[in-house]
Amino acid sequence: MKIFIMGFGAVGKGVVKVFSIKGNNLKQKYGLDFEIVAVTDTSGTALCDKGLDPDLLLNTKEKTGRVCDYPEYGIPGLSSPEALSKVEYDCLVEVTPTNIEDGEPAKTHMLKAMSDKKDVVTSNKGPLALCFKELVGTAKNNNVQFKFEASVGGAMPIINFAHENLSGCDIESIFGILNGTTNYILSRMAKEGSSYEQTLKEAQEMGIAETDPTQDVEGTDAACKIVILANSIMNMDVSLGDVEINGISKITPESIFLAKKEGYLIKLIAEASLDTLEVSPRLVKEGSPLSVEGTMNVATLKTDLAEDITVVGKGAGSVETASAILSDLISIWKSKK
Ligand SMILES: NC(=O)c1ccc[n+]([C@@H]2O[C@H](COP(=O)([O-])OP(=O)(O)OC[C@H]3O[C@@H](n4cnc5c(N)ncnc54)[C@H](OP(=O)(O)O)[C@@H]3O)[C@@H](O)[C@H]2O)c1
Repeated sequence: MKIFIMGFGAVGKGVVKVFSIKGNNLKQKYGLDFEIVAVTDTSGTALCDKGLDPDLLLNTKEKTGRVCDYPEYGIPGLSSPEALSKVEYDCLVEVTPTNIEDGEPAKTHMLKAMSDKKDVVTSNKGPLALCFKELVGTAKNNNVQFKFEASVGGAMPIINFAHENLSGCDIESIFGILNGTTNYILSRMAKEGSSYEQTLKEAQEMGIAETDPTQDVEGTDAACKIVILANSIMNMDVSLGDVEINGISKITPESIFLAKKEGYLIKLIAEASLDTLEVSPRLVKEGSPLSVEGTMNVATLKTDLAEDITVVGKGAGSVETASAILSDLISIWKSKK
């Protein structure tokens, strides 16, 4: 299976690392051979029909920061989406940065790949939160597969789990913590009694919060993810503008203390049900399935037949997120056998 990787940052490198670590194992276990035929970053593209070496890709990026410095097969300035027409591939792995204004450049990459009859796997929530129906519709019209497990909750299995393991159930609501940064901040505030500002600063120093943390702390990131879940698991037709969003920046140590006294934690909860699409700080009973600490993500699916089912997992991380991309790729490959 020939793979084109668009974007070579934390997740793109995680995917290449996972191919390097797991390559032989996948061959033995499934008879599956992944071949990376192209990788693009902002410098250009490394591209070879016969396959690129994962370790050399990683070494090149680490040494110069530019994938186009890949020996012999690097092409400086060969940008996306031009690169998508230069090589034969089966599946695009789209892992460029999230853009919640217009979903670009990922939206263009994915639509081009689909119209060229290529399958697409992504971790990019921007285009999914803005134009879910268009992307899924384009994939369907072109008879290609479109999978996006990594776009919600990183390594936490939820979308494929709901589709496959809960296929006989109706999902009536989804309720959970879908942003690791805010969960870390609220967990620390509860433990240390520290202020929001001080804890955010500490999270930024540790690399857990971004320099501009707005999308995380104001709830937009979690809102994108609940939109993806509502559309893909509950068959709703909603987009980012439909979500009522309240972040955590006004949470005080006093409110956390008062909640704790009564046996509750304050968590940033995303919820989708037939009459609610919302991200807001809520009280969660200490010791309940949703009271996870640190950067963990968690979601409870309320079903008609199996009652509540809760999944927990790492919401981010290079290799962790790549694990969800790998499972999407394996699932596409298995479906064609
Ligand atoms: N990091 C996580 O743990 C995580 C978890 C779940 C989902 N995600 C999502 O996964 C996606 C990738 O995240 P990341 O952390 O890997 O981001 P990142 O570290 O910022 O990497 C983005 C990569 O995309 C490249 N790029 C930017 N514009 C491009 C363009 N027009 N064409 C081709 N390549 C382009 C960048 O090139 P340069 O290297 O040259 O700058 C970089 O290699 C995002 O949508 C993110 O929201 C991330």
